[in-house]
Formats: sequence, structure tokens, C-alpha cells
Amino acid sequence: MLAAATTFPIPSFAFSSTEKLKVVLVGTGVRGISFWGKRLVMQYSDILEFVGLCDINPGRLAYAKKYIGVDSPTFLHFEEMVSQTNPDLVIVTTKDSTHHEFIIKGLDMGCDVLTEKPLTTDERKCQEIIDAERRSGKNLIVGFNYRWSPYSTKVKALLADNTIGSLTSVDFHWYLNTYHGASYFRRWHGLRQAGGTLWVHKATHHFDLLNWWINSDPYEVFAYGDLEFYGLKGPFRGDKCRTCPHKAECEFYWDITKDQHMMDLYVAHEKYGGYIRDNCLFREEINIYDKMSAQVKYKNNVVLNYSLTTYSPYEGWRVALNGKEGRIEAWLDIPYQKDVTINQAEMHAKEMDQSSKDEMQTEPIVVHKLWKEFETVRVNMERGGHGGGDKRLHDKIFRNPEAHDPYGRAAGVRDGAMSILIGIAARKSIESGHPVRIGELTDLEPRITRVNF
Ligand SMILES: NC(=O)c1ccc[n+]([C@@H]2O[C@H](COP(=O)([O-])OP(=O)(O)OC[C@H]3O[C@@H](n4cnc5c(N)ncnc54)[C@H](O)[C@@H]3O)[C@@H](O)[C@H]2O)c1
Repeated sequence: MLAAATTFPIPSFAFSSTEKLKVVLVGTGVRGISFWGKRLVMQYSDILEFVGLCDINPGRLAYAKKYIGVDSPTFLHFEEMVSQTNPDLVIVTTKDSTHHEFIIKGLDMGCDVLTEKPLTTDERKCQEIIDAERRSGKNLIVGFNYRWSPYSTKVKALLADNTIGSLTSVDFHWYLNTYHGASYFRRWHGLRQAGGTLWVHKATHHFDLLNWWINSDPYEVFAYGDLEFYGLKGPFRGDKCRTCPHKAECEFYWDITKDQHMMDLYVAHEKYGGYIRDNCLFREEINIYDKMSAQVKYKNNVVLNYSLTTYSPYEGWRVALNGKEGRIEAWLDIPYQKDVTINQAEMHAKEMDQSSKDEMQTEPIVVHKLWKEFETVRVNMERGGHGGGDKRLHDKIFRNPEAHDPYGRAAGVRDGAMSILIGIAARKSIESGHPVRIGELTDLEPRITRVNF
């Protein structure tokens, strides 16, 4: 039912006119049940069907089945699910450090696999995934949604049109606010062994965009990073927000009991696995960085300056791309450059929103050619679903896999690997105090022009 593509960098999903694509999902947390669960059922039930759901938490699994709105069987064991349901496609939305397990088993059991980012959390697992894809003859897609936002695509289009001549250097800075940034420190993302640090969990999105825009593989990384704000560095700590004695004085106090969906999905099932959704973000076990800065040299000699902040008063980002004939500046959500007030508490919920009510916005990109006046290009884009990226990614995978895409937005295993390898190299650089070469981490040799396999 699924056929490997010859013209596309990732597999094309060739749907039969009579049979639906059989899909299973492992990891029924918020991302799995909403974006890869309910949304697929609502938008693509004519061409696909869920034949199994799997999670280690039986309570969450039962809630997930109801929430997604399917009557497929549920499983606590992945292999049992795959052997009993014989799916065409496995969707992996578990905790990051476990992705490799289901990717590799899924491929080896004869399925195509679609994984949420990040591909995985270290270079050893990355190599195992690369090997598994090669030996299985099946295909792996990484769900990079940011590339599909019209805003990111416009930057790619301007570069592809050679608007600023050959690219030489890039500045890219991402600011997570004290709601969204803090949320990573509340749960497993705060543990390096679970999410690979935000160098991998979060920055994989950024490095993928950059690799795609720069259109080359990364070659060498030098980085600094520290934990100075959350974790042990916090002023006080409690068990979890619900029972914390510091509720009144903590700016980060979050009353999860006011969010029924979070209560039904997580709190109601704590007894099964001890997954605490409103953990203290000042707990001592946190061992990731909260400020990160790196320089990356690309194989095509472009130099990148990158930073990630996790406790900014506002959430937004900026990029400047310097070429031999000019410069492009792009940014989103910088409050001082907008004439509307942005509600920082609601921003992330809007970004994750998968409802079909599309709130549109128009955002500028500045193109400044050498010796000329600058021009402002205006891009129409959705506010929700990661700037419209989520729904376009879905359509590409499930509805129009064969449609020609001049921007090459579909991402496969090499893209997934190259984006996490920058973060993994950054971690190693911080630990060693030395630059780290990407080519030393796996058997993927960095190339001047990006290709997939
Ligand atoms: N592309 C995006 O913009 C985006 C946004 C959010 C999350 N994500 C990714 O989606 C994934 C899930 O994120 P989430 O926020 O839903 O996390 P979550 O912790 O809420 O959900 C993960 C689920 O996996 C289950 N799980 C953990 N280990 C398991 C195992 N060994 N076997 C089976 N189930 C297991 C947990 O019980 C939980 O239900 C992550 O990899 C995350 O990086 C991507």
C-alpha cells in the first residue's frame, strides 16, 4: 500500500482506491492524541483508519481512545500491537528518549514509520535508526512541521531565488517565554536522559529550519550553555504545584485543576506511572541547560550564530541571513514590533491549536539588497497549528504525497539526524570545551548540498 518514491526525498504514501491506510499510534500524550490522533480522524478518515493505540499508561490509553474517537483495540505492548494489527504505518509520539525503540522495531517489523521530532536523543541511537532504515527497506518520515509554515517557506523561497546572492552567515535567536519555556522544566523534558536537553528536544526544530534554509549539512559546532534560572538555581521548591507551600509567592504557580483536559489526560492516571504534569520547575533533579549559545560552521562555509533562551518575558524569534548581495531579516512575535498586544500566557496554546478555525495574520520579511532601499515582503499565515505548518505537513503526507514541492519540505531520516546532531555536538562541545565535528558522530558524511536518502 505504501510505495517508496523515486522522485521525492521521503517516501510517497500511495493510497489504494479501495483500502484505507492502516495506522497505529504509540504514545497517547497530548501531541499524539490531538495532532496525530483526533486531527487525522477528523480530516482523513476517508483514506486512513486507526487499527491500534499503545501506551505504557492504561488509564491514559483508555482516555485517548475516547478523545480520538476510534474503536480500535488498545495495547500496553508495542510488538503485540504491530503483530496483531499488521499496520502500514506506525506513528511514534512517545517521550523522546524512547523514539528509537519504536522506530527500529516498526521498521524491522515491516512498517513505514512516522516519528515526531526529535528523531532521537543521542548519536548511538541515531546510528541505530539509520542502520535500521537501510536494512529494512521501509521508510521513515520525521514530522518537521515548522518548514511548512508559509512564513518559513517564504524565507526558503527568497533564498532559493538567490535574492541576496550566495549566503555567507546567519544569526538565529529563539526566545521561549516564562510560560512555554518554563513548561519544559515541569516534566520529563527537564531531564537530559529523557529529552536530550533543549539542544535536542527544542532546537531540533530550529536546526532543521536552518539546515534547510542554508541548504547544506552542518560541519562543526562550538557551544556554551548553563543552568542558571530553573532547577537548583530557583529560590525555593515544592513537591508539585498542586501541593506546593510556595503557591502564593511563586510566579510560576500553575493550577492544573483548572484545565479539565490536562486533568483527564494526566492527573487522573498518575497512579499508573507517576507522571506528574505540574511538577516543580525548581526541582533538584533538573539537569538540562536553560541558556544555550552555539556557533555552527556548515560544510558550504556558511557560519551560524545561534542562541536559545528559556525565560524571556516574551516568546518570539529572529533570523538575519547575510549574502554577498544583501540581507534578509525575519522575525515573529516580537511585541515591540507589532501594533497589537500579544497575550504571553495564551501564545503556546494558540500555536498548538488544531481547531479548523484559522485565525490569519500578515507578517513582514525585510529584504535589503546592497546599495538599495530595503523592501518589505508581507506573508499571510495562520496563527494556530504552528503557523499553519501542522495542517500543511498532514496534507503533504496523507493527501498530496505526489504533488511536486519546489521547496523540498518533506523531511526524512537524514534531515532528522542532521538537526539533532548539531544539538548533540553542542552538548559535547560544552562538556569538552572544544569544537565537535558532525562527521565524527555517525557514519553520515556532511555534504555541501543537502540530500536525503
Ligand atoms: N512537532 C511539534 O511541534 C511537537 C509538539 C509537541 C510535542 N512534540 C513531540 O511529540 C512527542 C510527545 O510529546 P507530548 O507532549 O505528547 O508528551 P507526553 O509526555 O504528554 O506524551 C508521551 C506519551 O508517551 C507515553 N510513553 C512514554 N514512554 C513510553 C513507552 N516506552 N512506551 C509507550 N508509551 C510511552 C507516555 O505515557 C505518554 O502518554 C515528543 O517526542 C515531543 O517532542 C512535537
